[in-house]
Amino acid sequence: MNKFTLPRPTRTVDEITGSRRLRRMRKADWSRRLVQENRLTVDDLIWPIFLTDGENRREEIAAMPGVYRLSVDLAVREAERAAKLGIPALATFPQVDFALKDVAGSEILNPDNLINRATRAIKAAVPELGIITDAALDPFTDHGHDGILRDGIIVNDDTVAQVAAAAVRQADAGSDIVAPSDMMDGRIGAIRDALDAAGHQDVAIMSYATKFASAFYGPYREAIGTQGLLKGDKKTYYIDHANSDEAVREAEQDLAEGADMLMVKPGLPYLDIIRRLKDEFQTPTFAYQVSGEYSMIVAAAANGWIDGDKAMMESLLAFKRAGCDGILTYFAPKVAEMLKA
Ligand code: PBG
Repeated sequence: MNKFTLPRPTRTVDEITGSRRLRRMRKADWSRRLVQENRLTVDDLIWPIFLTDGENRREEIAAMPGVYRLSVDLAVREAERAAKLGIPALATFPQVDFALKDVAGSEILNPDNLINRATRAIKAAVPELGIITDAALDPFTDHGHDGILRDGIIVNDDTVAQVAAAAVRQADAGSDIVAPSDMMDGRIGAIRDALDAAGHQDVAIMSYATKFASAFYGPYREAIGTQGLLKGDKKTYYIDHANSDEAVREAEQDLAEGADMLMVKPGLPYLDIIRRLKDEFQTPTFAYQVSGEYSMIVAAAANGWIDGDKAMMESLLAFKRAGCDGILTYFAPKVAEMLKA
């Protein structure tokens, strides 16, 4: 058998483990299924989609193979597909015509802007599908920041007023959940007040409570066409990725202001934050598996370096294990199809 003589361990394995054998339950597929602690189902998925103007337009995003910018008519088709697959909700992100951008992101207040047109069209066609809209200014500003920029500074309180007004327009259009991703102080309370004053008591708020300043958003900036615009970084408003206690304080503040759900973004590099928030607050907690996370898996798979489908499933299950109730992921339709098969 072995061509070398092995020294005997001084104790037998049973003496070492006290007869405990954790491999017993791993011995067969049936026993592994029986003891599986976490599961991914279609009910866990939120599908982020990108919108563009025009009709019958479907533009592939170079840095995100398999992800497209869709005109509203085609977004409606995808919404119908999502509903058929059982995906609970979509989150929309617009590529806004450059001519409509300005320093304050005013177009976000247009009741007929791209986000609101898409919400209305999707709700008319598939009312049973949840719609989540982002109230952040970055797709609408000519500098790509999430806030109103004055003398090189993001003006918190003016931005909050703008974001809260935008949230009302989004709710008017039929949005079920407003999800502000801008990280301004006080935005959740201001949005709650504005929604309630407008009669939108039943519109929920998903707080991007812990959004970190991250390199993993790169491909998203290509997707919404802000990559050339943004000067500098977003460190004066997103959380330093070195910090964890600060993320807990941010989530606590957002819950106190009225957030219904929390989100951690990016996802996989921040599983520790997800677990901390879930343990601390027992609140519906979500992760955003962001563009860079998607692209890394797809690119490695395209090179034959990893099994893309398995890596995708493993990454999503990791979110469940960390404590997530659901995941925003560009893989949503693919996963939903695989889970169905
Ligand atoms: C900005 C915003 C970002 C994402 C969604 N909204 C980050 C940014 O541009 O800094 C990233 C989403 C992704 O990477 O998939 N409000």
